[in-house]
Amino acid sequence: MARKKRDQPLIPLKIMGTGAYLPERVLTNHDLAKFLDTSDEWIRTRTGIRARHLLSPEDVPSQMGVKAAEAALAQANRSPKDVDLLLVATNVPEEPIPGTAAHIARELGLGKGAFADVTAGCAGFVYALAMAGAMIHAGLAKTALVVGTEALSRFVNWQDRSTCVLFGDGAGAVLTEKSRGQAGILGVALRGDATKLELLRIEAGGVRLPASCETVQAGKHFLRMEGKGLFRAAVGMMAEVTRAAAAQAGLNLAEIDWLIPHQANLRIIEALVKRLRIPEEKVVVNIDRVANTSTASIPIALDELVRAGKVEEGQILALTAFGAGACYGTVILRW
Ligand SMILES: CC(C)(COP(=O)(O)OP(=O)(O)OC[C@H]1O[C@@H](n2cnc3c(N)ncnc32)[C@H](O)[C@@H]1OP(=O)(O)O)[C@@H](O)C(=O)NCCC(=O)NCCS
Repeated sequence: MARKKRDQPLIPLKIMGTGAYLPERVLTNHDLAKFLDTSDEWIRTRTGIRARHLLSPEDVPSQMGVKAAEAALAQANRSPKDVDLLLVATNVPEEPIPGTAAHIARELGLGKGAFADVTAGCAGFVYALAMAGAMIHAGLAKTALVVGTEALSRFVNWQDRSTCVLFGDGAGAVLTEKSRGQAGILGVALRGDATKLELLRIEAGGVRLPASCETVQAGKHFLRMEGKGLFRAAVGMMAEVTRAAAAQAGLNLAEIDWLIPHQANLRIIEALVKRLRIPEEKVVVNIDRVANTSTASIPIALDELVRAGKVEEGQILALTAFGAGACYGTVILRW
């Protein structure tokens, strides 16, 4: 079907800088096999993961977010005082009140810029990028910093081999401003299916089930996941929103230069790519080294691609993610 190509972006937006941070400590599959009934072979063949970075006990997610943000600011040649909007995608805030964004704003020295956390599961970064773009487009912000930072290693049960092997810690960031040229968001599809809310949860620690001795003893502060259900849902959800965003952009999927999918499982990525018929060489994969870093996964992968000098002006990038909620979404950008 012939589609009308969008010459002017839906949202004129330029990514001025990208940044990422991975904690120094690395835990390999072999390390895991020393204290868990698992093997490198099982983890690699089922997930594509070989290693993950872990935040040290004395560090906090905002420190990772600050390091990623500083790298993005430096690349963009901007100072924290230029930032008038900071959106931080994260699943679990650094403390119940205030959110992680407040800590990042203080550490960065943001001045009087607005800041807020965005909670949309592992799709949080894609949601936050679309929100920042919309605010800039509406004239409500000039320079927006979008950060994804996550330390799910603090919430997995290290005795539960079906979840703890999957996650890693890290942060990624982008600095965005209004674009004067062709760069921008060409298509956005953000969706949710709350009937799938049960698939991924941390039940206790919030208002519904405050922390108590009982919740701790019952293990209700750990991340609980229905792996098979998530796997099945993920491929369909990301395919649906990528097609919808491409249709809005007036693009054929073949015109996508780089697909940056949320790095949850290599088999999910492979099934998605097969369904969308996107060639392997256009798909950005780093799950083997970093595992699932949740909200940080897309900006880390984007930063690696940019710093490897692989992204050229005018190229089309599709960022797609799914996660708890279930929230899912795709943003298609022209660089
Ligand atoms: C978690 C996941 C890797 C499990 O893979 P799977 O092929 O569905 O494996 P199953 O859950 O069916 O488990 C198969 C067997 O392996 C075992 N197993 C699970 N984890 C294991 C591990 N780390 N090492 C060794 N064996 C393991 C199970 O106990 C089960 O054993 P059994 O057959 O004796 O009961 C996969 O379902 C997945 O990636 N789901 C999506 C998760 C996700 O995306 N989460 C993040 C959302 S943002």
